[in-house]
Amino acid sequence: PGVRPLVAGNWKMNGLKASLAEIEAMRKAVEAGEAGAAELAVCPPFTLIAAAAARLEGGPVTFGGQDCSPHASGAYTGDTSAVMLKDLGATYAIVGHSERRTYHRETDADVRAKAEAALKAGLVAIVCVGETRAEREAGEAIAIVSRQVRGSTPPDGAPDTVVVAYEPVWAIGTGLTPTAADVAEVHKAIRALLGEIYGAGGATVRILYGGSVKPANAKELLGIDNVDGALVGGASLKASDFLAIAAAY
Ligand code: G3H
Repeated sequence: PGVRPLVAGNWKMNGLKASLAEIEAMRKAVEAGEAGAAELAVCPPFTLIAAAAARLEGGPVTFGGQDCSPHASGAYTGDTSAVMLKDLGATYAIVGHSERRTYHRETDADVRAKAEAALKAGLVAIVCVGETRAEREAGEAIAIVSRQVRGSTPPDGAPDTVVVAYEPVWAIGTGLTPTAADVAEVHKAIRALLGEIYGAGGATVRILYGGSVKPANAKELLGIDNVDGALVGGASLKASDFLAIAAAY
């Protein structure tokens, strides 16, 4: 709907100091006009964010964290706040990724609290939703995703402060992707819900697709109605692949 697409890379728990070269390569390519029309963002692990920030400062590639605490500061050992990400110049915090929902038992309410903390700190929350294989096979995909969108998005955000990422759990890291018709159906349902939640602003919330996006399938997936970009895992680790995906725009 006339919004600038977002191609965001989620490095997950991957990347060492040497990986900063990939971030430098991304910046160079975008500055050279080689990356198409989309905004590119990279979400490295927390250990690399300060160094990534130094390399991206003043440039066109944005960055973010893969999670944030619902709290701004305090006695929360091991956690990182949205305020701290913002302090480094971050634009985004991914919240509610299915790996956090599964391995850290995050509920919709937890995810919403994190999204609200992100907004309060001045970040854009990338709120992840998506059904499991069993849920899809049971015909429950739309119901599950709708429950997650209703329960996890911050009610006072949008359109610029919230991004929704639809990531079918069974498509993450598997090489499997839904059919274009299935992606279109879910994204259309999310768009309708965003209209209910945010009114007219819901039309310009970016809805990303994530799950086995690669250079070879990017054009098809990113060309689907109501797909306003991608959340890319494995293929975001190498600048060349990530840029090839972004080139779909
Ligand atoms: O956040 C990214 C997704 O979980 C997708 O991961 O591209 O490796 O399938 P993937």
